[in-house]
Amino acid sequence: MMHMNQGQGETSYAVNSSHQNAKQERLKPLIEAAIIDLCSNNDNLSHGKVVIADLGCSSGPNALVLVSTAVKAIHGHFLRLQQSPPEVCVLLNDLPDNDFNMVVKSLVTLRRSHEPVVTVGITPGSFYERLFMSGSLHLMCSSYCLHWLSKSPEVLIRNRIPAYDIDGDARLERLLVVHEAYAQQFRSDFTNFLDLRAKELVSGGRLVVSLLGRTIASKSSHIWEGIVIPLSIMVSEGVIDKDKFHSFYLPMYGPSNDELREIIQAEGSFSIMAMQVHGLITGTDSAVINPSRYMKMIRAVFEQLVVQHFGDVMDEVVRTGEQHFSLDGRLHDLTANGTMLVVSLTKS
Ligand SMILES: C[S@@+](CC[C@H](N)C(=O)[O-])C[C@H]1O[C@@H](n2cnc3c(N)ncnc32)[C@H](O)[C@@H]1O
Repeated sequence: MMHMNQGQGETSYAVNSSHQNAKQERLKPLIEAAIIDLCSNNDNLSHGKVVIADLGCSSGPNALVLVSTAVKAIHGHFLRLQQSPPEVCVLLNDLPDNDFNMVVKSLVTLRRSHEPVVTVGITPGSFYERLFMSGSLHLMCSSYCLHWLSKSPEVLIRNRIPAYDIDGDARLERLLVVHEAYAQQFRSDFTNFLDLRAKELVSGGRLVVSLLGRTIASKSSHIWEGIVIPLSIMVSEGVIDKDKFHSFYLPMYGPSNDELREIIQAEGSFSIMAMQVHGLITGTDSAVINPSRYMKMIRAVFEQLVVQHFGDVMDEVVRTGEQHFSLDGRLHDLTANGTMLVVSLTKS
């Protein structure tokens, strides 16, 4: 029951995802390199056919960016060799409640604009489950999704330990417990994800993904604070009930690069070709350091989960967040320790 804000209106993900779009740029060179590797070794191509997929494509202008990069790289590679390119099948995945309407139309445009043959399809479902036939995919990519967990940590919910206690001292006391619970859930989910993708990829198949992470120094914060801080202010103002707030858990975790590397190595299906750590805020990324644009982005991503739990509070959340993050340095402090982790893997 999760999706980014649908449609193309003012509060939609389609209109408020320029930050995520900028981050897709980081993946493009790795996708191009992976395609050249795959195409240079013809054993990897099953009889002149390549199947590629984007996992967590969402909706709006970002949905086809990665697969289009891959298709262009395939055609460019074979053009340089003066050979006819293989047939390409492009598959897009997201959760079933994702707004696939616009995505379908863009897929048809992609199919028409590439020769000789591009076939397209949608594969709805969770990437924490099997999505494709075994040994059928050559390249899978995913941008800005894998920090979403399959569920919030049950140990916190069962023991009624708030993820973000309104009481600052209690929050500090439980910081490690909360952090560890989320880290465990991420380890289990990411291990499962790698295991599933290894089954679906051909031998030598490639996986190129990015996700939100954090520096070791930011162990005292969580990647979901951008939405939780405005909500907590609304609790202190008496607008939101404290118990209701304490039972709100977001299924998200940002690992450090060491954690990620260790999980990939322990799972064992993939070799790491490249691993990069990028700061979340760059000189040009005004979507993240401008309070108004930041809260629009937060709304596009979290509105549906917030409304499901708290009801119709989102206008107030945005006002509160804009006001809070306008104060000197607060938004910078919130985002400064965030990273984006980028990994390119080959199935061993
Ligand atoms: C922030 S959006 C990123 C979308 C797009 N890749 C981009 O770069 O703009 C994260 C997407 O991941 C999807 N997602 C989260 N958990 C998922 C899961 N278990 N399976 C498939 N998609 C998932 C969400 O529905 C959402 O569309």
